[in-house]
Order: sequence, then C-alpha cells, then structure tokens
Amino acid sequence: MGSIQRVQDDARARWTAACGPWTARVAEHVDQVLSGDALMPEIARYQLASGGKRLRALIPVLLAERLAGEGESALPLGVALELLHNGTLVHDDLQDGDTVRRGLPSVWTAWDPAQAINSGSWLFFRALKLAHEHPKAAVIVPYILDAMIAIVSGQAQEFQLQQPVDASDHIPASLANWHAMADGKTAALFGVAARCGALVANADHDDAASFGRNLGLMFQIQDDLLDLVGNKGRNARATDLCEGKISYPVAWALSEAPAGPDVETIRRVVTTPRAETTDDQVSEGLAALEATGAIAETARAVAEYGRTLSSHPLCDKLPGLVAAVLAPVRHVLP
Ligand code: IPE
Ligand code: IPE
Ligand code: MG
Ligand code: MG
Ligand code: MG
Repeated sequence: MGSIQRVQDDARARWTAACGPWTARVAEHVDQVLSGDALMPEIARYQLASGGKRLRALIPVLLAERLAGEGESALPLGVALELLHNGTLVHDDLQDGDTVRRGLPSVWTAWDPAQAINSGSWLFFRALKLAHEHPKAAVIVPYILDAMIAIVSGQAQEFQLQQPVDASDHIPASLANWHAMADGKTAALFGVAARCGALVANADHDDAASFGRNLGLMFQIQDDLLDLVGNKGRNARATDLCEGKISYPVAWALSEAPAGPDVETIRRVVTTPRAETTDDQVSEGLAALEATGAIAETARAVAEYGRTLSSHPLCDKLPGLVAAVLAPVRHVLP
C-alpha cells in the first residue's frame, strides 16, 4: 500500500471510529422515516441506499453527544438534514445534467425528470416534518428554513455564474462570487448541522454555525478539486468541467490568472455546451488549469482551510473529520 493510501485510510478510520455506533443509529432512523410502499419513499430509499457519507447527520449527532451526551436527541435533526441534503442532490443532478451519482443512475435517469422534481420536494417536506417534531423545533426550524433558502439561492447563483456575460442575470466569475455561491449551496447546510448539535447540547450555537460554514467551504473546495484530480463517483473524469461549472479552480483561473491562451482554453471548455464537449477538450482544459497554477492554488486554499479549522476547539469533538474530508485530495495538498 502506498503512503498516500495509508494516510487516507488512517483519516477515514479515525473518523469512522469517532462515529462509533452513530452511523448505524442514523441508518436505522433513516430506514424508519423512509418506510412505506408508495413511490416517493421508494425513490428516497433508492437515493439514500446509493451511498453517501452522512456528514449532515453525523456532525450534529457527534457534537451533541460529545458536548453534552445528547446524541440521541440530535439524531432526528441529523436525519432531517441528511434527507434535506439528499433532496438537494436529486434536484441538483437534474439541473446539472448528471446521469450518475455515487456510481449509480441518478434519480432523474432511473425514473424521469418529473419524478425527480417530486422526489426532491418530497424529501424537503419530509425532512421539515421530522425537524418540526423535535422538542426544540421552535428555535431550530427557522435556522433550517434559512439554510434551505440559502441553498436554493446558492444553486441559482451557480447558474448565474455560468450565464454569458451579456445575459441580464450574469454574475462575473470572481473568487468573491464563488464564495457567496458556495456559502449558500453547501456551507449553509454544514452550518446548520453544527448549529443543531450545539443547540441540542445548550452550547454556543453561533460559534458552532460559523465553524460548520467554514467546514462546508473547505468541503466544497475539496469537492471541486476532486473533480480534477480524483474520482467523484461519476464513472468519468472532470464532469464539472464538462458541465461548465464555475468551480473554485475555474473561478480562480478566470479572475486571478494572467490573461493568455490557457485562460482562453478554460473559458472555451466551460462555455461549450456539455453534449459538445469532447474528451480532447477536457484534456486541454485540465492541462490549462494545471498550467495557470489553478490546481496548485486550489490545493493551497483547501489546505489553509484545513489548518484553520483544525485549531478550532470544536474540531476535537469531531476527531478525524477534517482529515477524512481532505483524504480524497490528499495526494495533491502542499
Ligand atoms: C455532495 O456532497 C454535494 C456537495 C455539496 C458538493 P457529499 O459528497 O457530502 O454527498 P454524499 O456524501 O454523497 O451524501
Ligand atoms: C451540489 O453541488 C450542491 C447541492 C446539491 C446543494 P455540486 O453540483 O457542486 O455537487 P456534485 O458534484 O453534483 O456532487
Ligand atoms: Mg451537481
Ligand atoms: Mg450543482
Ligand atoms: Mg461527493
């Protein structure tokens, strides 16, 4: 086994050990909530059974458990956030045109777009009903609703970043605009996950939310980098690049790298419609991202988030989490 492989395995093993029995408790609770013969629970079971790390469930549960021995009380909230997350993924694959998720046909591919819209919406409302049943719902649900509003707004901003410069809803591809978008589409849910854990434990939940948001931003930079240097579970490389996504490295290259042929290559790849993007174009795009320094800069940025997060006191309550999130891109970190 190579040393990179060993570092990845060690990080995952530490996080898995920290989760202890909670991974199984989350699975049991998910099964209970998604029981039933109708089509909507059936599609939801397909989506959740396809895999996933369950971070949005495990973060609140572990924080509540390690701050106050209240993991069981945080469990339904964690499961609610996990259902919400999976609802966003069902909609996201349809929006992004991704036919594969976690190595399996995405819901809109396995069923059809109309039922994918229904399934994502069903997961949202099932999640909210679950959260609403919690004894602290009056305090917690408004935060969850704010996160949902932020997610949808972030998803919308992502498409605005991709609009042609002369379109009325175009947002320029800058790092500041990337951060605003990712703060919505990804960090808001990590923020509310950490907040729920702290709230159940009667701890400082604003501080926890800020920690969670930074974790979410680190997660998204990692996910963007993974598309270029690893395997995202789509049985194909650089699907984000094909999709035309303004990922962190693309935003960096388009806004920070010196103008020249490499930047023009990247711009061409992300503006070419997905169906017309050839394998050669993807290779050229990857080479141009490498040549501009965008990949190295993204690796530097994600490592810096990792260092800052690791010094936060809440990190001790989630042993191995930061390293486990970074593990898939560990081989390119400085
Ligand atoms: C994918 O999140 C969606 C993003 C916010 C990038 P995850 O990688 O955490 O999804 P799981 O682990 O499959 O649930
Ligand atoms: C997904 O983001 C974020 C949400 C579903 C809110 P991406 O589109 O970047 O993630 P992947 O690549 O499909 O997992
Ligand atoms: Mg997507
Ligand atoms: Mg997307
Ligand atoms: Mg992923």
